[in-house]
Amino acid sequence: MEGNHANFGSRMGAIFAAAGSAVGLGNIWRFPTEVGNNGGAAFILIYILCIVIVGIPIMVSEFVIGRHTQSNMIDGFRKLAPGKWWCIIGYQGVIVAFIILSYYIVVSGWTLYYSVESVAGSLTRNHKYDEYFQAFVSNPWMSILYAVIFMAIVHVVISRGVQKGIEKFSKVMMPMLLLIIGVLVVCAFSMPGIDDGLRFLLKPDFSKLTVSVVLSAMGQAFFSLSLAMGCMCTYASYFSPRTKLVSSAMSVAVIDTIVAVLSGFIIFPAVFSVPGVEADAGPGLVFITLPSVFNMAFQSIPILGYVFSSLFYILLFLAALTSAMSLHESVTAYVHESLGMSRRKASFLVAVSYMSLGVLCCLSFGPLRDCTVMGLTIFDVFDFVSSKVLLPLGGLLLVIFTGWYLDRNLVRDEITNHGTISSHVFGIFIFLVRWIVPAAIAVIFIRGIVEIL
Ligand code: PHE
Repeated sequence: MEGNHANFGSRMGAIFAAAGSAVGLGNIWRFPTEVGNNGGAAFILIYILCIVIVGIPIMVSEFVIGRHTQSNMIDGFRKLAPGKWWCIIGYQGVIVAFIILSYYIVVSGWTLYYSVESVAGSLTRNHKYDEYFQAFVSNPWMSILYAVIFMAIVHVVISRGVQKGIEKFSKVMMPMLLLIIGVLVVCAFSMPGIDDGLRFLLKPDFSKLTVSVVLSAMGQAFFSLSLAMGCMCTYASYFSPRTKLVSSAMSVAVIDTIVAVLSGFIIFPAVFSVPGVEADAGPGLVFITLPSVFNMAFQSIPILGYVFSSLFYILLFLAALTSAMSLHESVTAYVHESLGMSRRKASFLVAVSYMSLGVLCCLSFGPLRDCTVMGLTIFDVFDFVSSKVLLPLGGLLLVIFTGWYLDRNLVRDEITNHGTISSHVFGIFIFLVRWIVPAAIAVIFIRGIVEIL
């Protein structure tokens, strides 16, 4: 193992960085949208089950591979299975990271635009949010401009390196993000729609459960925990030998799930506070529905509407930033370590490449709106293929690799830090990755895809 490989400086730094990757648009924008579309509390229950049974074991598997090999995902597989085809899991991870980045920065650009507009006060002055949102996203120059600015910020952080870039920024941004969420939840509890919002989030209606809902919940768990894309594997390659892998994975999963559920607590009481606004408004939920909700809910005290919406979009922007950093790092680490390019050059090359695909995604809300495959725009195709097809497949191969191919002693050594911590979780872990996780993913994936098609 290389002695000069970069490392996180502290255990807190490592957890904040990994949690920063996990907590993102997936929690605050995608989770409430999926909850709204899939019937509320029942979806949340299934989602939490997916996190515990499927998500945490896959995250631990990535941690084991990353820390043991001290490499990005592709090289990690190459070192563990030299000359075998297993490294395609790494390639697929890096490719999915690339695809996700290209549409992730589009929505991230929207969060930047909305943060600027809400702080400048334009958002609270405007009242036709649907037109406002459409005018912005369908103007290719504006959405490309904001995506490029966002990408440039990510590039600057990544090119500063692991400790001075990723760790330093995550240690500042994550606590800020948690603080803003806390303030927003308190505000949400004073809204008139709190009872309906809570009922929607907490009272399960199992009649809405179908296999495709379960597939959506599993896809959301993969997406939200940043799994099967090399992000967690790459970050784990910067962990110290003392980092406890299982408890770190559990901390990340707990922070991620709390933020997702709290986002529901912020958004749905707001949505139910305004008549005529539907919980299943889709991806526009946080950009079209919420601004009007903020305005109307705080009609008598407009300054509160201003503060609430500014804080909310800044929160969304910060969350997007730390996640995009990890996606960018996953691809950059490969180019930097394997192709021998300097970190700065590698990061620049990666940024320019995914931005080219990102332009297509930006245009799919404007000039390329009618360019569709099975009714899905380019943006939707990227989201569908990555989260519902490639992530579950990558996750499946990954656990088969850890459960069936990897040497058990190697896995035990990583999980118990060479016998220095108790090994009782090891047996449970191996049982899950050998039997339960592969079976769960295979059944949900195949039945879900059949139902969708
Ligand atoms: N987990 C991030 C989120 O919830 C998104 C992400 C996906 C980040 C994949 C990294 C890798 O928004």
